[in-house]
Amino acid sequence: MRPYMLAGNWKMNMNVTEACALSRALAAVKIPEGRQVMIAPSFVCLNPVFSEIKNSAVKLGCQNFYHEEKGAFTGEISSDMLKSTGVSHIIIGHSERRAIFGETNELINKKVKKALEKGFTAVLCCGETLQEREKNIQNNIVEQQISEGLVQIPENMLERLIIAYEPVWAIGTGKTASPGDAEAMHLFIRSLIEKLYSKKTAAELQILYGGSVTEKNVDELMAMPDIDGGLVGGASLKADIFTRIIQFK
Ligand code: PGA
Repeated sequence: MRPYMLAGNWKMNMNVTEACALSRALAAVKIPEGRQVMIAPSFVCLNPVFSEIKNSAVKLGCQNFYHEEKGAFTGEISSDMLKSTGVSHIIIGHSERRAIFGETNELINKKVKKALEKGFTAVLCCGETLQEREKNIQNNIVEQQISEGLVQIPENMLERLIIAYEPVWAIGTGKTASPGDAEAMHLFIRSLIEKLYSKKTAAELQILYGGSVTEKNVDELMAMPDIDGGLVGGASLKADIFTRIIQFK
């Protein structure tokens, strides 16, 4: 049985005081059996947030990093720096990184590889734009993002890989993919992993859905057999709402 993961992507929100207050509240939440919780605050909040959650089951994630070890990369953060703050999960290739910061599948592949080599869990994001869905090429887009994102990554490293399917048109828009459409894409992703690796690895892979997940739609999304959790943006910024999401029915 795959565990569910409920992950909060806090994006560029909350200062240290606010992030500490929210993480303190989440550290006290009762997490139902078979579920994992991860929160990904901004880089400057990682250390203080870790102090709040380290004695709880909540895992610390971050939203990006740079794959080089060290050196002249002004403004970037390395994997070793993240290790020292208590980070265990790294979100890679979020659609905002792709669209606003020009991240390519090639760069994302380097990041996934480095994150896995360094012992992190990598949360590889994929998803089509509205235009791509209107042209009915969403499967091709997602296939390319995943197959190029996983180039030269050996099967044994996939134990620590999570894929997050986040249709771009659903992120921050209030439009969620219908549970049926999301399930269809998750099944497609699982079959792709089977083709690239094996049936066993595909069956064990956690695939999260992201894009306007809220306390109102979480129950029906999580009821789908191939949806193994959610990557939640806006609705992860309020303790009571994210708690309801963690405790979905
Ligand atoms: P949203 O963001 O829940 O606010 O749509 C999800 C994400 O981008 O990870």
